[in-house]
Amino acid sequence: MHTEYFIVDKENPDKAVLSKAAELLKQGKLVAFPTETVYGLGANGLDEKAAAGIFSAKGRPSDNPLILHIANREDVDQLATHISTNAKVLMEAFWPGPLTVVLRRKAIVPDIITGGLETVAIRLPDSIVARQLIFMAGTPIAAPSANTSGRPSPTSAQAVLDDLEGKIHAVVDAGNCQIGVESTVVDCTTPVPTLLRPGGVTLEMLMATVGEVEIDPTLAGSFELAPKSPGMKYSHYAPDAPMVLFEGAYPHLADLLLLEVKTALAEGKKVGAVVSTETAARLPKEVVAFVYGSRKRIDEIAANLYKALRSYDDNPVDIIYTEGIPEDGLGLAIMNRLRKASGYRIVNG
Ligand code: TXA
Ligand code: MG
Repeated sequence: MHTEYFIVDKENPDKAVLSKAAELLKQGKLVAFPTETVYGLGANGLDEKAAAGIFSAKGRPSDNPLILHIANREDVDQLATHISTNAKVLMEAFWPGPLTVVLRRKAIVPDIITGGLETVAIRLPDSIVARQLIFMAGTPIAAPSANTSGRPSPTSAQAVLDDLEGKIHAVVDAGNCQIGVESTVVDCTTPVPTLLRPGGVTLEMLMATVGEVEIDPTLAGSFELAPKSPGMKYSHYAPDAPMVLFEGAYPHLADLLLLEVKTALAEGKKVGAVVSTETAARLPKEVVAFVYGSRKRIDEIAANLYKALRSYDDNPVDIIYTEGIPEDGLGLAIMNRLRKASGYRIVNG
């Protein structure tokens, strides 16, 4: 299959170009597009056959449900019922933006979208390109991250093509995604809203808005429990090389990381390191380093995270050592992704 390539301006996208992409979506085809979090792989969310294409293009397990993306707040009423006050407050506070709410589904939502659950995940993205495209397509758009299942999510159109060129009908390029980690998923069908996946809206922001938030126990990383957000149970975000994550107080964790780096180099290994600017200054020059930003700029670290994990695709190493950060704010989402990417190979300093 030939993958068509469209390029548009992030703030002021050309309507004629977007309408071509929207036309493909209307025809039941697969179109990857940018959001403020990561690129999504879109298909008509009310068309079973179109949505099925997403699972085959990504190699995604069929029990992992999809988020429906909408263009206007009111569109939620077409898809969900029993919308709690907490849900309304959260949507009011964070839509459009990186928040996905899980609500009781209506019958119009196909089973393939929900993975057979009685709930549906819904998000109104902030990205102008995304909202205009969804609006022009005239239907909710199912869109998981536009990566091959298990790989890091794409934050650029090139990263989408690296995984899915020839498997999807088109990609809309509007440059790099600003946030860089996926949306926060909150189950609003429970009496107290439950955080299922940390993301662009921080736990602190959620609590400041609704007071109490429960945290799904599976976020602690135990695979014993059946996750309510089915996607959280699969290996995820992983680069090709094994990765070890260093957690704990700084600069002690950097000392430990540097020690491991030196040992691995002495063993003749080719070593990668995903680190802060602060730590990069101390790395031996043989290390294939990806500097994700300053420890003082968590937003930068989030924006560079998946690019870092993908940077070893073209420059393979034997092992990657990664510097952890505190779990405040966006740090919670970043550490959640890094723990999964490392397959829970963690050194606690
Ligand atoms: O930022 C994002 O959310 C991106 C962009 C493209 O919008 N999308 C994204 O989709 O990350 P995906 O499919 O990669 O992740 C969706 C997550 C999965 O963990 C999935 O299991 C969960 O949302 N999910 C979907 N429907 C659900 C439901 N009904 N109940 C609980 N979790 C659900
Ligand atoms: Mg994903």
